[in-house]
Amino acid sequence: MNKPITIALTKGRLEKDTLKLLAKMGLDMDFMKEKNRKLIFESPDGKLRFLLVKAPDVTTYVRHGVADLGVVGKDVLLEHPYGYYEMLDLNIGVCKFSVASTADYQPKDHKRKRIATKYPTVASSYFNSKNEDVEIIKIEGSVEISPVLHLADAIVDIVETGNTLRENGLEVFEDICRISARLIANKAAIKSNPEIVTFIQELEKIVANKGG
Ligand code: PRP
Ligand code: MG
Repeated sequence: MNKPITIALTKGRLEKDTLKLLAKMGLDMDFMKEKNRKLIFESPDGKLRFLLVKAPDVTTYVRHGVADLGVVGKDVLLEHPYGYYEMLDLNIGVCKFSVASTADYQPKDHKRKRIATKYPTVASSYFNSKNEDVEIIKIEGSVEISPVLHLADAIVDIVETGNTLRENGLEVFEDICRISARLIANKAAIKSNPEIVTFIQELEKIVANKGG
């Protein structure tokens, strides 16, 4: 029997929407519903294997060929932009990157800004593109508290509903770009395994039908 197609999925927020999308392909995803601490799942027919990993690690597993495919946000791909092919915009996990701060933030006052973010590459290239020299302060999460506590002048972070900003007294000053989940592929795997290409084509049909 052929070895299963291995797909690395982003654990957490994206997980539910990804499983829904796979179910729309006609796959019975019930085998992933065991809510214990298991992190590797194989479909009962042995055709698919899923790894549940942290978002940046999706790119690592795909780059090294441990996973053939991966589902991960464009936010993470912008920070880790190499070693895989980006195949499809899955149109789930839609949000945006924004610059946000407290209401008194003066983006144009010509002082060198301190920008707190979990996404230093995205933040640097955004401010570089505007010819603005900023100091980047790397934060691992809960970035929204940093302007309030004067660690930074503003943040670059993901905004989905805007609730986290509102509840921490921040507002959006600039939008950087749209983010959504993408399907990525290992470069060798899609050249050598036609079943993977078929899988991607089927998924593409589902995604295309979604809007119309
Ligand atoms: C993400 C992101 C924002 C928030 C956006 O944080 O960093 O803080 O969600 O969503 P909202 O606009 O709907 O409020 P997450 O909860 O993943 O935690 P972390 O930043 O601490 O990793
Ligand atoms: Mg957050």
